[in-house]
Amino acid sequence: MNLDEHTTTWKQLNDHLSEWVRASKVHTEDGHVASYIPELANAPADILGICIMDAEGNTVAAGDTDYHFTLQSISKVFTLILALMDNGEEMVFSKVGMEPTGDDFNSMLKLELVEPGIPFNPLINAGAIAISSLIAGNTPDEQTQRILQFFRELADNPALDINQDVFKSESDTAHRNRSLAYFLKHNGVLDREVDDVLQVYFNHCSIQVNCTDLARMALVLAHNGVDPIRNQRLIPRRFVQIAKTFMFTCGMYNASGEFAMNVGLPAKSGVSGSILTMVPGRYGIGLVSPALNRKGNSTAGVHLLGKLSQEFDWSLF
Ligand code: DON
Repeated sequence: MNLDEHTTTWKQLNDHLSEWVRASKVHTEDGHVASYIPELANAPADILGICIMDAEGNTVAAGDTDYHFTLQSISKVFTLILALMDNGEEMVFSKVGMEPTGDDFNSMLKLELVEPGIPFNPLINAGAIAISSLIAGNTPDEQTQRILQFFRELADNPALDINQDVFKSESDTAHRNRSLAYFLKHNGVLDREVDDVLQVYFNHCSIQVNCTDLARMALVLAHNGVDPIRNQRLIPRRFVQIAKTFMFTCGMYNASGEFAMNVGLPAKSGVSGSILTMVPGRYGIGLVSPALNRKGNSTAGVHLLGKLSQEFDWSLF
């Protein structure tokens, strides 16, 4: 993108983002806040906040941007990257596949139906649990600290930490994830103990951020692993390519096709109502709006990204 195009986009965003957020906010009424993790049910159902960051670190933000939330499934993109950095491609892809499932994010159907019994991809729960076992460290605490350190670096925010209430709430109620993990253990996918792996998984899902943190992390992906603000490579280019490909094909779960059609950008959602996306080579984008559709994606968030993509012709196709 040339400088003029950036200037025009930035001006449009400054002039109109608040109005577009207001228009999308009505779609919070079409969804419901996640309640299967009891602590998440306390989230306000009617908010929407977004932050867009350019390569210099300038931001345009609108809506409820002070709201803090947990990363949930967005963390899976970055633990995948860390597992790739710790183990290399060959090892990681001996434990998880590369294909979308078309099933819900917490489904265990295909683990039994399709040989070998490894998760279809690293962004569904089963895949992300397998990935948690691959993070370097001798204990769950060491692994968690390694993840936190990496996320703090990417977000350029040393204060990022785990929301203990959300961690405990998920850990106490995650019967389905526990059964997924035991299934994986039985299939020989997990080399560590189930409880230890789940501790790491619940911890990274419970890392608390705001929209600016998300936009900052997305910016590094948008620039293929280089933090353009500090002019520093944080992730090898190939691993960002892998992560962005998964975001495109599986990042919005079994609504990834629809999102690709209507927005056309690599993205990842979390059940906290968060979405991390980017305009490759340009902007990092973080948003939150806790009301979700049946597939676990933020209703107002998806609507707003559709509007932005249309307005600025951001689809990659
Ligand atoms: O394991 C879970 O169910 C949650 N910690 C994360 C799921 C999630 O964010 C799915 N996203 N849309």
